[in-house]
Amino acid sequence: MTILVTGGAGFIGSNFTLDWLAQSDETVINLDKLSYAGNLHNLTSLHGDARHVFIHGDIGDAALVGQLLGAHQPRAVVNFAAESHVDRSIHGPSEFVQNNIVGTFALLDAVRAYWTTRPAAPKAAFRFLHVSTDEVFGSLGKDAPAFTETHPFEPNSPYSASKAASDHLVRAWHHTYGLPVLTTHCSNNYGPFHFPEKLIPLVIVNALAGKTLPVYGDGQQIRDWLYVKDHCSAIRRVLEAGSVGSTYNIGGWNEKANLDIVRTICRLLDSLRPRADGKSYQEQIAFVTDRPGHDRRYAIDASKMERELGWKPAESFDSGINKTVQWYLDNQAWVANVQSGAYRDWIKTHYGATT
Ligand code: NAD
Ligand code: DAU
Repeated sequence: MTILVTGGAGFIGSNFTLDWLAQSDETVINLDKLSYAGNLHNLTSLHGDARHVFIHGDIGDAALVGQLLGAHQPRAVVNFAAESHVDRSIHGPSEFVQNNIVGTFALLDAVRAYWTTRPAAPKAAFRFLHVSTDEVFGSLGKDAPAFTETHPFEPNSPYSASKAASDHLVRAWHHTYGLPVLTTHCSNNYGPFHFPEKLIPLVIVNALAGKTLPVYGDGQQIRDWLYVKDHCSAIRRVLEAGSVGSTYNIGGWNEKANLDIVRTICRLLDSLRPRADGKSYQEQIAFVTDRPGHDRRYAIDASKMERELGWKPAESFDSGINKTVQWYLDNQAWVANVQSGAYRDWIKTHYGATT
């Protein structure tokens, strides 16, 4: 048996691929175009492992996807491939429209052509799992209940609008053509291999480098954090037992204000790797211009996952953030490797002289 994973060299896709092959002998065909966020170093531990087949290519290349599906005959496709950073979507939305919307369309249509011609048993068992985000639901008021699966779509950034559009395509390919799809909406992930343009890894690497820790606006925006390996276990569970055509919200019930996240990381580093001058890393915090259209609060109601599929996260926020900070301390070579010229250009374009 085989599955096709797209975007499997990115943050969540590489964690998913590693966890999958740690628990199963089922081959992973990993299709990734290796954008700035795709990194084969995340998968170094799979070198020489015949169960992992890496293909450098684009989900928008329908001919390539069709050929891969025909050659490997996967029983499922798990679609992680996307542009994922909100700030980049504000600077340059077109890549998001192209990869997240047009790319998902091409992938869906190639998968439909493959699925349609499958024999009855593998056709019935086939699944297309689309990995989406809580950001499609928009922003919550301070005391509003957490997002359930039936919350209306109200995306506010080019990124979240592109993800919402791709979700609609996935839904339509099920209702119109019968493609057996599953869609997941997860909250903010953190953990190993997280690209240091996102808040948690950026704060860890900037702190250690003696740089500014940029907090947008008043730092009181709330995100709901989930350790990446818990997201991976949830996706495996949905793939295994999710009801075709359904959507599932995935989260860890860990709402935190951004400033609290930054302070927590500083406290951990103060004890694990104290600054040479004995001062706290909190001295490096700087409040900077807010993100345009910044969503104030996200919160996921993950009770359907628990009730219907018996899934629960294994990590608390405390245990997950401890592991994450320790991982970055232990993997300085990985960090140095991703801080290429392109990374430095992004930091300069986005933060200017503030970091
Ligand atoms: P990432 O940016 O780290 O990785 C994305 C990967 O997709 C990269 O390896 C990139 O090369 C690849 N890719 C992009 N466009 C492609 C294309 N057209 N064809 C083939 N490969 C392509 O992103 P991530 O944080 O790992 O997120 C993965 C998925 O999970 C995304 O769909 C994202 O919307 C979703 N998601 C992310 C989070 C989060 O907190 N990071 C939370 C919920 C959902
Ligand atoms: O909610 C799920 C989403 O979480 C995913 O769909 C996205 O792919 C993922 O990037 C993430 O989006 P966010 O915008 O929430 O993540 P980010 O790490 O960019 O920012 C987290 C919060 O921290 C957000 O409120 C903005 C703030 N922030 C971020 C950066 C990079 C800062 O205050 N300073 C920063 O320098």
